[in-house]
Amino acid sequence: MKHLLSIADLSRDEIDSLLATAATMHEVQGREVKKIPTLRGRTVINFFFEDSTRTRSSFEIAGKWMSADTINMSAKGSSASKGESLRDTVLTVAAMGVDALVVRHPASGAPKRIADWVDCSVINAGDGTHEHPSQALLDAYTMQKALGSLEGRRVAIVGDLTHSRVVRSNLLCLRTLGAEVTLVAPPTLMPSGIESWAAADGFSLSTELDAVLPTVDAVMMLRVQRERMAGGFFPTPREYTVGYGLTRDRLGLLKDHAVICHPGPMNRGLEISPDAADAARSLVLDQVSAGVAVRMSILYHLLAGDGSAE
Ligand code: NCD
Repeated sequence: MKHLLSIADLSRDEIDSLLATAATMHEVQGREVKKIPTLRGRTVINFFFEDSTRTRSSFEIAGKWMSADTINMSAKGSSASKGESLRDTVLTVAAMGVDALVVRHPASGAPKRIADWVDCSVINAGDGTHEHPSQALLDAYTMQKALGSLEGRRVAIVGDLTHSRVVRSNLLCLRTLGAEVTLVAPPTLMPSGIESWAAADGFSLSTELDAVLPTVDAVMMLRVQRERMAGGFFPTPREYTVGYGLTRDRLGLLKDHAVICHPGPMNRGLEISPDAADAARSLVLDQVSAGVAVRMSILYHLLAGDGSAE
């Protein structure tokens, strides 16, 4: 495996292997001295053309704990803001002798283009509304840890499907792991053409959150991405919450063992209530914790897989 651009590029075995390595890496997180020499002498650049809290910092921590040299760059503060083309900026950075570029970009497909230009490994850390593969892997890892095998488990993904790259990667990953997925959203936030995708790939669609919640083992709430919304996708935030928010009342609809996920950042009070976000069954912080282990695993598989690293 040279790049991680899309979950669609991964086989079931590759996903299983990434998740198994993540479990080993998670143990490092529990140690007092969180440092292993695996990527000593390797250089990883986090190139973020869009804002991020958890993805960027967890890739940075993951690299550092594995002894790689990790550097953070953002569009603001780089020559990209002086009008340099994406290709020139990326080739400049790559020419310094980089082993991996972790790229977040507002344009869908940008990491794939970059992978065509450079010789180093490229990791997609979220591209536009396309994919966010490391997020889907950490979500699967977290759900597996809580529920055991995801084979036959029911997962609902709820909310702003149109603007979410998390939903695309999660669908591919969860389906590959054998989960039954239902996507829930108001009709205005269902991506166009989703019906034919659902029919071809065997997942369900619903506009009725209350009907779906009692049937699932896990519910993943998605952030309402107001920064990507040009028009009115719902009348008022209040109405969105009434129809599609995981409110305190709706918690009572969940099975006893069902867990709650959210990739973050959360709009508390909009798509998720504080009662749900902070509930004992909420895995939100477990997802963040797993994020470091899963990203260590990704870096391991891409950079140490050829056996040249320690
Ligand atoms: C997500 C993203 O950026 O795609 N956040 C994340 O990486 N944890 C989801 C979001 O922005 O809502």
